[in-house]
Amino acid sequence: MMAMTTAEEYAEFGAREARGVSPAYERLALAVSRDEEVLALLDGLPASKRQPNLLFGVVRFLGGPVEDPAGFHEFTVANWPVIAAEMRARATQTNEAGRCAVLLPVLAALPQPLALLEVGASAGLCLYPDRYAYRYGDHLVGSGEPVLECAATGMAPPGSFPSVVWRAGLDLNPLDVTDPADVAWLDALIWPEHAHRRARLRAAAAIGAVEPPLLVRGDVVDDLPALAAKAPEGATLVVFHTSVMYQVPAPRRQAFVEVVRDLPGHWIANEAPGVLSYDRLPAPPDGALYNVLALDGTPLAWTRSHGQAMSWFA
Ligand SMILES: C[S@@+](CC[C@H](N)C(=O)[O-])C[C@H]1O[C@@H](n2cnc3c(N)ncnc32)[C@H](O)[C@@H]1O
Repeated sequence: MMAMTTAEEYAEFGAREARGVSPAYERLALAVSRDEEVLALLDGLPASKRQPNLLFGVVRFLGGPVEDPAGFHEFTVANWPVIAAEMRARATQTNEAGRCAVLLPVLAALPQPLALLEVGASAGLCLYPDRYAYRYGDHLVGSGEPVLECAATGMAPPGSFPSVVWRAGLDLNPLDVTDPADVAWLDALIWPEHAHRRARLRAAAAIGAVEPPLLVRGDVVDDLPALAAKAPEGATLVVFHTSVMYQVPAPRRQAFVEVVRDLPGHWIANEAPGVLSYDRLPAPPDGALYNVLALDGTPLAWTRSHGQAMSWFA
């Protein structure tokens, strides 16, 4: 299959990812897909550094306009050297605490206490499933902020929190919740209209900053066994990952599956279908984009990307 041109990538992003989710990014992606000057600048970057989410996040991070395509064009062309340098240095590392809402039912049902090890942890905000509050339909679990809303079908909401005695994360580029610049980058990665996600990021980062997790710079395959070996005895080791494997080349994903299956404890995956292979999957609930939640390789539920909904089928 021929690789998409940069123009096609932006047009596709606007039509498939941003439509119905972010009118500003839909408009902007379409405008960039027709903007010969910005496309030529993007094509001077390595292919892996041209994505809409990265460009738009960097422009937001630098204080540029993303709501107005003409202003965006002007800002991008005028500030290209600094934008290009940031795009080369940074990666899309959106850290969405909301994904804990789909992990919680699985975590609560495992033998307690738990030693959590997240691969592709970003700043580690998904390592605090026991510290957030949740609303599954009308059912509230826990108290305080943030409250993670999840429209769940086919399952009973968890009746208790997991007991977590250890939390560790592995990432090629761990971000630090106590560093305002890292939190500002995470904020810039949130799409413009998603004020509720921005508030959730601030609340989750405040929780993480009180007791920062052990975050190790490393690769999901090469460095996983050594970090897993640090988990305390007497706790159930749970290796998990959400929205990470699409960034890992296919042969490395296979190598990761082999490594994780050799570890003691359990493995939770929450990834796009097709990124990890499953023998049988039912049809998804509708035409929206879903992830597959799986425990030890057995698929359990369809989940929406920010944890806002789950449809349990196991
Ligand atoms: C989209 S973010 C998701 C972060 C977090 N799991 C969440 O759901 O909020 C993906 C993360 O995976 C990390 N990552 C990608 N490839 C990796 C690899 N080979 N080894 C370790 N981390 C990786 C990236 O650096 C990034 O922080």
